Order: sequence, then C-alpha cells, then structure tokens
Amino acid sequence: MTASMQSSVGNPGAEKRGMNLTLRIWRQQGPTAKGKMVTYKITDISPDMSFLEMLDVLNEQLILQGDDPVAFDHDCREGICGMCGVMINGQAHGPQQTTTCQLHMRSFADGDTIDVEPWRATAFPVIKDLAVDRRAFDRIIQAGGYISVPTGTAPDAHATPVPKADSDAAFDAATCIGCGACVAACPNASSMLFTAAKVTHLGLFPQGQPERNDRVVNMVAQQDREGFGGCTNIGECSAACPKGISMETISRLNHDLLGALRAGARPKS
Ligand code: FES
Repeated sequence: MTASMQSSVGNPGAEKRGMNLTLRIWRQQGPTAKGKMVTYKITDISPDMSFLEMLDVLNEQLILQGDDPVAFDHDCREGICGMCGVMINGQAHGPQQTTTCQLHMRSFADGDTIDVEPWRATAFPVIKDLAVDRRAFDRIIQAGGYISVPTGTAPDAHATPVPKADSDAAFDAATCIGCGACVAACPNASSMLFTAAKVTHLGLFPQGQPERNDRVVNMVAQQDREGFGGCTNIGECSAACPKGISMETISRLNHDLLGALRAGARPKS
C-alpha cells in the first residue's frame, strides 16, 4: 500500500479539496439605497455545506476584514420555517427544488460563479442586501380571519369525519411555509400559489366552512392591495415551491372565489 493510499484509508476526507467560488452578491444598504452586485472570492468550501453555511463563511471573512457582513434571512435551517430564500443564478432557492437552507454546495462545481440576489417583487421590498420584507403574506393571512370552532373539551378524533382525499389535499396545502419562492419565481410576481394554499387548507375541512366565502374574497382582495400580480398559469411557482404545492391548488382557489362571489360575498373595504 502506498503512502497516499494509507493516508486516504486512515482519513477518508484527507484527499478532498474544498471548492473555490466567485460570488456576485446584491448589496444594498437599506430600503431606499441604490443596490449593486459586488464580487467576492471564497475558497475551500466543503461540498457538504449548506448554501447558508457558505454565506456564513463569507460573512466571517468580511467581519475579520472589518467589512459589513451580507444580510440574509434564516431561522430553522431545517426547511420548515420559510424564513430563508434568495435568488441563486436567477432561480428561487437555486437549482434544486428545496429551501436555500437545504441546498448544498455539491449542487455547484469548483470554479463556479454564483449570482445571489434577493426576491424581486414590488410587494417584497428589500430591507437590506438579501433580506426582504414579506409581511404582505402575514396581511393576506390576517385578511382571511378566523374559523368558528366551538370551545369546550376537545372532541373525539373521529367526531367530525373528513373524507381521506380532502384530508390529504388539505394537509398537502398546509405544507406551505410561506417562503415567497412562488412570488419570486413568477414573472408576474403573483402570490396566487401562496394564497391558494392558505385558502385550501382550511376550505377543505368542515371546520373551515362557515367563513369559507368571506375568507377567499378577503384574502384575494388583500393580495391585490399588496401589489402582487395576477396568475397567468405559467407554473414557475409550483416548480420553485420547496414543498411542491401544485397548480391544482390555484384551480381550487378560483373555484372557491367564483362560488363565493356568486353567493354574494364581497371583500371588506
Ligand atoms: S431557514 Fe427555515 S426554511 Fe430555511
């Protein structure tokens, strides 16, 4: 056995070399400041790092140099909270259908140049660098209001039967984490997939029926007020959605909306 083979056997990672990358990152000091792409070189990045860990390494370098670190949103780093999200080489969350925190550097090649930008939508104004204000989503949910559930002791699990197909579709819609990739991926910056997911996950359950019509008209009216564009069935939203929410959800929203308007429901002004 040669010396290099011995070292490879003794330390499987010893032969691996990190990736050297060029990052072009959107830097913008504040909401009204003019932004620009700034180029950074970064070396010895492990292919097993997440994209956010790679940004952490860059930020450590910037801090050591006395420079301002890059602002970006993150929280759970487990693909469940919906906080992270950037455009990577023009794709929402990058080349894999996952969240930015679950994207790994092995999706790129040594020597790559990677463009990193914030979500681009009028309704998601830039706060700083890669961080955007997504409170418009909170206001859409708020416009949906409450559901009527009687108080008292918890009912037995089977007291309110729900058909299996409805329950599966409702839970699929409820996997939406509100990251905003659907808006960022859509050429119209439409929030229809997000709103549809929120309308659907309540509208399919018996508990969601009393306010069903008011909920859909008010949520759709709010998304229009926020400045999101209309849906023209392009489908980029669903392709970029880390949870794979389907376009069928939007059909269900449109069905609910038409039914509610025909029944006389009107949005609160
Ligand atoms: S940080 Fe929570 S989903 Fe990415």
